[in-house]
Amino acid sequence: MPFYATAEANPNLAIIKYWGKRLEPPIIAPMNNSVSVTLDEQLRTRTTVLFSPKFERDKVWINGSEMRTPEELEKALPQLDAARKLAGSKLYARVVSATLTPLAGGLAGSAAGLCALAAACNEALELDLSPKDLSILCRIGSGSSCRSVYGGFAEWLAGTRADGSDSYAAQWFGEDHWKDFRTIVAIVSHEKKKVKSRAGMKQTVQTSMLYQQRLRDLPARITALKNALQERDIARMAEIAMRDSNSLHAVCLDTWPPILYLNDTSKEVIDSIHEFNADDIKAGYSFDAGPNPTIFTVEKHVPEIQKRLKEIPAIEDVIVSSVGSGPRALPDKGALMGADGTIRRWRVDNKKHDIIVEG
Ligand code: PMV
Repeated sequence: MPFYATAEANPNLAIIKYWGKRLEPPIIAPMNNSVSVTLDEQLRTRTTVLFSPKFERDKVWINGSEMRTPEELEKALPQLDAARKLAGSKLYARVVSATLTPLAGGLAGSAAGLCALAAACNEALELDLSPKDLSILCRIGSGSSCRSVYGGFAEWLAGTRADGSDSYAAQWFGEDHWKDFRTIVAIVSHEKKKVKSRAGMKQTVQTSMLYQQRLRDLPARITALKNALQERDIARMAEIAMRDSNSLHAVCLDTWPPILYLNDTSKEVIDSIHEFNADDIKAGYSFDAGPNPTIFTVEKHVPEIQKRLKEIPAIEDVIVSSVGSGPRALPDKGALMGADGTIRRWRVDNKKHDIIVEG
């Protein structure tokens, strides 16, 4: 066993949102099935992990800062424990992670991060996990990360078992299924979100009546989405995405005390897309637990949407992503830490979407 590996994973963005847990951490199984598209490499996360008898506890660095508080470590540690259990190992780990995703702005950063960590553990501990089992290991860190195990479009199944063993992700369509599909990610705010999704969804399940209606609506919406994706029908796909995002933010507002993730800029984006769609639906917005909009569309509409987004002053940056692939192991020259545990010099180039290891 090498006890040392590096892997990269891409974020995924939910078209049908996961919101609410039926099984709490460290298992994590959702109340509803969710569906996502995996983005390309521009917002990827790279993670190097080393398990060693020299270490007295787990240590995690993200973008150069050591995670020290229980809150900062609440996602990585259960996943490391689960990986150790699978390997029959008691060795502590050092984890060094570099991400191109702005963290905690409702932009699925934890999805790429926890998928990259699971994939690196899979290599380092020679777990040889199937995609299904890798998605279960991801889920233990961050629920939404289990969908990043696949390129293309994937569904995370809620399952019904009390041990969560039937809650895993499965691929619907591969990354080549819809070549001109695009996800436009607009960065509105680099601020960290006020209510983390973990706390927010718990509050919703406990207090929102409207949430029960959302759960009833979802099976038909998921079937309709599968048909729209199968037929590469952007009008139907985009409408479903917008309706699901609106449903999520409606239940957030119906939560007590209410949660508002959207801001004035998000509202401008919503209005602008509906205006663009006045004659026929060509694009759909979607918001996770934050104000950053993502727009689903097809390649030919990208310039017009970019133009519209640029007219909104608070939009700082726009990233246009194709449909991306699942996680991959990297050769040691891309590692962020040496095999002896020394952290290498590296930097993230957000403009070029690159992670550069310098020494
Ligand atoms: O997996 P978490 O705890 O980061 O929750 C993510 C929830 C949403 O991003 C809002 C929706 C989703 O399905 O990704």
